[in-house]
Amino acid sequence: MPCPLESTILITGGAGFIGSNYLWHLNKHHPNAKLVNLDSLTYCGNLANLEGLKNNYTFIKGNICDSQLVNKIFEDHQPNIIVNFAAESHVDRSILDPQLFLKTNIIGTQVLLDAAKKHMRDGLFLQVSTDEVYGSLGPEGCFTEESALKPNSPYSASKTSADLIAYAYYKTYGLPVIITRCSNNYGPYQFPEKLIPLMINNILQLKKLPVYGDGKNVRDWLYVEDHCKAITQVIEKGTPGQIYNIGGHNEMQNIAIVKLLIDKISQLLQEESYAKLANPDKINYDLIDFVKDRPGHDKRYAIDPTKIENEIGWTPETTFEQGIVKTIKWYLDNLKWSQNIINGEYKNYYQNMYGK
Ligand SMILES: NC(=O)c1ccc[n+]([C@@H]2O[C@H](COP(=O)([O-])OP(=O)(O)OC[C@H]3O[C@@H](n4cnc5c(N)ncnc54)[C@H](O)[C@@H]3O)[C@@H](O)[C@H]2O)c1
Repeated sequence: MPCPLESTILITGGAGFIGSNYLWHLNKHHPNAKLVNLDSLTYCGNLANLEGLKNNYTFIKGNICDSQLVNKIFEDHQPNIIVNFAAESHVDRSILDPQLFLKTNIIGTQVLLDAAKKHMRDGLFLQVSTDEVYGSLGPEGCFTEESALKPNSPYSASKTSADLIAYAYYKTYGLPVIITRCSNNYGPYQFPEKLIPLMINNILQLKKLPVYGDGKNVRDWLYVEDHCKAITQVIEKGTPGQIYNIGGHNEMQNIAIVKLLIDKISQLLQEESYAKLANPDKINYDLIDFVKDRPGHDKRYAIDPTKIENEIGWTPETTFEQGIVKTIKWYLDNLKWSQNIINGEYKNYYQNMYGK
């Protein structure tokens, strides 16, 4: 059942990293779509990500767990596509406060599903999930949609539960639900506690670069714009009740990423337009600081995206080499964006967690 994007789309968590990129993506490629963004603006929700967004756009500040509000949004706006990005998304924080993750990621999803069941006619509920639901891999093999669900962190356990409840709404009530499970994203507007923006900001400030354990944990990286394109194509061509893995064919060890960022930033700082940002002579591998490993740290994730490639026709377009340079340049060109976060309300937390 093709689901046209020129309709009313409820995006939850649209002020976060992937959600804001997705709103920009829709704004550019589907300007006739009516966009409604429901976001409670937690520490990582940032309306600065959406400055300048226009065309049929409504922002509603609110919590996806608030059933009254969610039902009112469905009554007022009658969305026929829901893309649920809203989540507590940081594994480290889930280790400190699991309950918040269960509330937002599980109960919030169930509240949205319930409202969709009650109000939505002929539409689609897309649950944005993660490869972390499959747990950790050994040195060989990739996760397929058939892989067992073996989440290890409170974050991934909450996302797995959300997937299961979303699927139950499909099976039990016939709600048209699709689940996408994506690998690690990188790109503009990512909150600076996540690996790539954290390292870029620390490198520019000549701060230590904290790397968990031996740095050999492997993640499969995807440029966020490619993720956005995948979501759009799944909405257009996907089959309700199906799960689609989304991955970039791009496995990298954390330590390799950190070294690459050091190399690329040093090179870029030689360019006249960036020369004033930092002294490249002081940027070297000595900044790397191996710190105590994260408890339950998954060793390796890798996605087999054969299903989405064959059934939907999506493939990643941006190589890691291209994507990482675009990403670094975005952070260099938008230093204020990061600085406002690092020096704002987030300052104390950032300093305790990631060094002075
Ligand atoms: N970042 C990744 O690499 C990645 C990879 C795979 C899947 N995902 C999934 O994609 C989604 C988006 O991830 P992200 O990296 O953009 O996260 P993010 O943390 O940057 O953004 C989450 C957004 O959700 C909002 N939010 C949180 N709790 C809310 C609530 N109770 N009600 C309403 N809004 C709320 C926040 O304010 C924020 O704007 C998540 O569901 C995540 O599990 C992320």
